[in-house]
Amino acid sequence: MARSGRNRARPSPILIRPAATIRERLGNVSSVIQPSDIREVAVIGLGLMGSGIAELVARSGRRVDAIEIDQTFLEQGMARLRASLDRAVSRGKLTDGARDEIVARIRPTDDVAAGVTGADLVIEAIPERIELKKALFAQLDEACRADAILATNTSSLSITEIAGGTQYPARVAGMHFFNPAPVMKLVELISTVLTEPEVAETLALLSRDLGKTPVQVSDRAGFIVNALLFPYLNHAVRLLETAQATREDIDKAATAGLGLPMGPLTLLDLIGLDTSLSILETLQAEFGGTRYVHASLLRKLCDARLFGRKSGRGFYDYRRQRPPAAPEAEHLGPVPAEVAMIAEQDERLDELASQITAAGISLVPHPTDETELVIVAADPRHRVLDAALAAGHPADVVGINFVEAGNGKPGLTELVLPDVTAASTARRAAALAARIGLNAVISRDRPGFLIEALAYAQFNDAVRMVQDGYASPAHIDTAMMLGCGYPRGPLRMLDEIGAGNVVSVLEAMHAATGDPAFAPLPLLAEYATAGTRFRADAEG
Ligand code: 3HC
Repeated sequence: MARSGRNRARPSPILIRPAATIRERLGNVSSVIQPSDIREVAVIGLGLMGSGIAELVARSGRRVDAIEIDQTFLEQGMARLRASLDRAVSRGKLTDGARDEIVARIRPTDDVAAGVTGADLVIEAIPERIELKKALFAQLDEACRADAILATNTSSLSITEIAGGTQYPARVAGMHFFNPAPVMKLVELISTVLTEPEVAETLALLSRDLGKTPVQVSDRAGFIVNALLFPYLNHAVRLLETAQATREDIDKAATAGLGLPMGPLTLLDLIGLDTSLSILETLQAEFGGTRYVHASLLRKLCDARLFGRKSGRGFYDYRRQRPPAAPEAEHLGPVPAEVAMIAEQDERLDELASQITAAGISLVPHPTDETELVIVAADPRHRVLDAALAAGHPADVVGINFVEAGNGKPGLTELVLPDVTAASTARRAAALAARIGLNAVISRDRPGFLIEALAYAQFNDAVRMVQDGYASPAHIDTAMMLGCGYPRGPLRMLDEIGAGNVVSVLEAMHAATGDPAFAPLPLLAEYATAGTRFRADAEG
């Protein structure tokens, strides 16, 4: 199944050669090679990531050997790189002259051996197939200078296994960039048990010199970011394929509800669905469990070669010039003439009541024969269905849950529809939301609805990483903020919501689905009981 080099029945033995350090081979007195000594960088593989990395390195004034064995991919990669620079010029961020100088520093070639001979550093960004990477690194061993550092941009394959096939595994490390590489500020630096500390230190200094923030971790599938990002993306696809919400509402839940820069389905299209599928397979091979089992819709889209932006179509269609227009209010259904609101006193619901009456809609405290819509307060821990049955008008009920984005943005309203709700009720609820100007998404009535389901499951994953002792809460938050543009890290968000609240929603999700991935982790339960914060360092 997985093409990963992890969790194989018989891992290939790692041959440790005499521990000649790079310093010894260089005859250098300095223990750490300074970024100023890294003047020529070979980037191998000119796909989405490789072309971004080549651009980034060339922008820093270094010479770049842009190597791609497939001539078509080489041309496409260089075209992508030039388009990215042209965009910077058109935005006034770069002059024509500076763009031309950057391009002049890049030497495209399809000859690996010739391309890497003069390189101080090689960054490999070829397709995620362990046998290809191992073969390439064996070739680099012969072709590179003895003091060259060899880095792989693998997103989740075993760097230890890649390094193990080389003569000097001490000079091999992971240098994991994020898409778009010129923009995202994070670099994950991965040391294997064989990586020489000076190599890691050199790459950390270089990352800073490239304008990035390095986070150093050990070699484990998905490192920090992908191990947290991909189960969340996968979960979003499962919500789509189980008709929990539309693709637009799932994406809106993440952007307007959580303040993320992109919705998960849009982000999958950016990363590439084939890449995403193979990362999930690697994570699944390493960790098992249900969380990484890819949604079947993801596989089907890949089978159909709908890989996202790079192929013109994925969850969205990029061949169109403009996104489809938002539905006109008249297509939503009639605005209800009479609305009943059954709710405890609550500031936000009181405000909603004022908005409804201000829109000229009759508002009553209990449903009458004239009532066309019954609003109840929705809580992600409980089914709206129970409130709908208690109201005596299940077909007319919509649950309403207000979510603050927490980043100064207006937030989002979840309109939650039990399956017994009539389709006409859903349309009326959407029409009402549009009339009174609510920024709303529609979700089926499942614990966690949309926003909490996506976010809290990821919080649990982040807690697992802390529980495993793999990364600290501060490192996790930094990685997600700089690698994926999160406004706050998941553990900071968790602290703000409260571990106890997160535990109770996860328990409801676990009870409703039976999926063990949603069971609150012991460490989370412990923090909830003790009232402890994960980011006590970031308080205030
Ligand atoms: N290449 C180069 N530059 C780009 C770019 C691209 N593909 N896309 C956007 N940019 C630049 C723009 O030129 C602009 O630069 P400027 O500020 O200097 O003018 C800046 O980025 C902001 O772009 P926009 O205003 O057009 O768009 P947004 O404000 O919406 O930002 C985004 C775009 C930076 C992509 C933002 O939406 C974002 O942060 N998204 C999250 C991306 C993410 O999560 N990446 C990680 C994916 S996981 C991964 O890569 C790991 C791998 O192993 C799979």
